[in-house]
Amino acid sequence: MTTSLWRQHILPFTLLLGLLAAATLAGDYLLHRLNLVWVGRYLGIPGTILIIGSLVYSLRKRKYITAGNPKTLLTLHEFGTWFGSLMVLIHAGIHFNAILPWLATLAMGVNVISGMVGKLLLKRSRLHVQGQREHFQLRGVSRAEVEQAVFWDAVTLDAMNQWRKVHIPIFIVFAVLSLGHIVSIFLFWGWI
Ligand code: HEM
Repeated sequence: MTTSLWRQHILPFTLLLGLLAAATLAGDYLLHRLNLVWVGRYLGIPGTILIIGSLVYSLRKRKYITAGNPKTLLTLHEFGTWFGSLMVLIHAGIHFNAILPWLATLAMGVNVISGMVGKLLLKRSRLHVQGQREHFQLRGVSRAEVEQAVFWDAVTLDAMNQWRKVHIPIFIVFAVLSLGHIVSIFLFWGWI
């Protein structure tokens, strides 16, 4: 049980987050080594586009659009936001001049982590409650008694479902702060 918990949930989470940090450091190091620091300045653009693109999943989920397989779109959402965040993190680099884009980056970090925790914890809890139900049913316990036995776990599972309530507001904070940063840069560049 402990091994499977570690291997199935904690390890992937640690690896995915660790990989994001390692890839950010490696990307930043390479850009500096190859004298391509300017590329990092523009990586904010594809990173932002990738994150916006991955929101197609949210549109599909809320039925604003009807085309596309939700499961595939969810995978694309997870991949797109992870990869887009990597680009934005390399873009942010280790330059500290302005507070607004750093606040946006912080919100993005909470967003990515809440998404990953939500995905992994939810899966784990769902499996746990399902396993408990099956265990009781196999022992011939009545339906009402099964529901009573898993009551607190089901309540916990419900609480886990609340993660979305963090994921979405923090996304809005992230979007507003990013927009402020992007508009000010575009004004500065004379693009708008
Ligand atoms: C269209 C997308 C974007 C463009 C064109 C863009 C452009 C820029 C530029 C030109 C700078 C350099 C500013 C300077 O040298 O002082 C910069 C810095 C930065 N950007 Fe972006 N950016 C974009 C998206 C984002 C997003 C989405 C985030 C975070 C969520 C972000 C976070 C940062 C950070 C942390 C810095 C470093 C700020 C500092 O020097 O203190 N950027 N960006």
